[in-house]
Amino acid sequence: MSAVFNSTGHRLEVPEIVSSDGIYLTDSDGKRYMDLESGVWCTSVGHRNRRVNDAIRSQMEVLSHAGFCYSHPIVEEAAASVLSVCGLEDGSVVFLCSGSEGIDYARQVAKTITKRRLTLTLHDAYLGSFSSVIDRSSDWFIIDWENCPSCPEGQRRADCAHLGDIPDEVAEFMFEPGSSSGQVRFAPVPLIQEIVGLVRGNGGKIIVNEVTTGVGRTGSWFGFDHYRISPDLIVIGKGIGNGYPVSAVVMNGTTTQELAATNFKYMQSHQNDPLGAAVVKEVIAIIRDEGLIERASVNGVLFLEALQGLAVYPAVTAVRGRGMMFAIDLRDAAASRDVFRALLQRGFIVCLRGATLRIDPPLMIDRDQFGSFIDALDEILSVL
Ligand SMILES: Cc1ncc(COP(=O)(O)O)c(C=O)c1O
Repeated sequence: MSAVFNSTGHRLEVPEIVSSDGIYLTDSDGKRYMDLESGVWCTSVGHRNRRVNDAIRSQMEVLSHAGFCYSHPIVEEAAASVLSVCGLEDGSVVFLCSGSEGIDYARQVAKTITKRRLTLTLHDAYLGSFSSVIDRSSDWFIIDWENCPSCPEGQRRADCAHLGDIPDEVAEFMFEPGSSSGQVRFAPVPLIQEIVGLVRGNGGKIIVNEVTTGVGRTGSWFGFDHYRISPDLIVIGKGIGNGYPVSAVVMNGTTTQELAATNFKYMQSHQNDPLGAAVVKEVIAIIRDEGLIERASVNGVLFLEALQGLAVYPAVTAVRGRGMMFAIDLRDAAASRDVFRALLQRGFIVCLRGATLRIDPPLMIDRDQFGSFIDALDEILSVL
């Protein structure tokens, strides 16, 4: 029996992983796997990335941790990089340790500023694993958009039951732009724009949860770019650390000033740690230097087309995607489990969620590599 407790609810499906390289993982038998899950959306620029590892090594030689009473140039530099990719140069950033922590922090900020308690979110929003977001029985207003994916452009409040019901006293709208609890579904643009207008008009804050959709995953720096909205706070995690546990909460200028005028306190020992900041700065530099946003956008269209080509097989019921995040729905959970196992046997790791297979490769995956995955999937589906 393992001495490590796995509290994810997922059985360990893959043999023990002992090493990694770019988009590949190797198990203790020497078998290599293409990691099309990026270690649960985290390794945006690939496993054992040389530049990230060098940045960690050099920062460790200088200072890993100083405590939250002190600053360090690397933290300022990383914050400036984050603000620049967010287009919020007059704002501020706090570096934390995980997406869950970032979500909790951002909600505390919104509630402190607005002096309200109510969180508005969509029914399928995943907001991390902190208890503050698991129990949604009070102080939450949930919009179920299940039946309105084809909300027409021009939809307005008067025509929409969801919008008419939104209370005035919302502290924050927590918007997850496109992951939908890992299902790779995208709430309609008009619905989101209207909610943003309403909540902001009533003095509430707009928080985007970019933990999965940020740093290039959708073929743009952020998932909210596809919605033409301007958030007050942005929570970034996973891919910004390329596997190192660091997250960032970005606040626009107004929110920064409003928060500074309160007596808000957040006493967590590992905020604004130099080591995490060094990772963030380097990951952003790599994405910029290697043109990975554009690459994710251009390849995303081609990869989606290739996946859609597999919809000819009867077992496939839907294919979705945006940038480097894709989902394939199969006829049932048994079929998707069979495909998942067959892929694993051929050396491909994807994410299994019920009847859905999710594919989120590192941003630098190339066309031949993805092509080899399509060939394997084609072969498996053809005999399912
Ligand atoms: C959309 C979304 N938000 C927040 C989180 C929480 O991030 P973390 O696992 O880093 O705490 C996750 C994690 O899967 C996520 O998918």
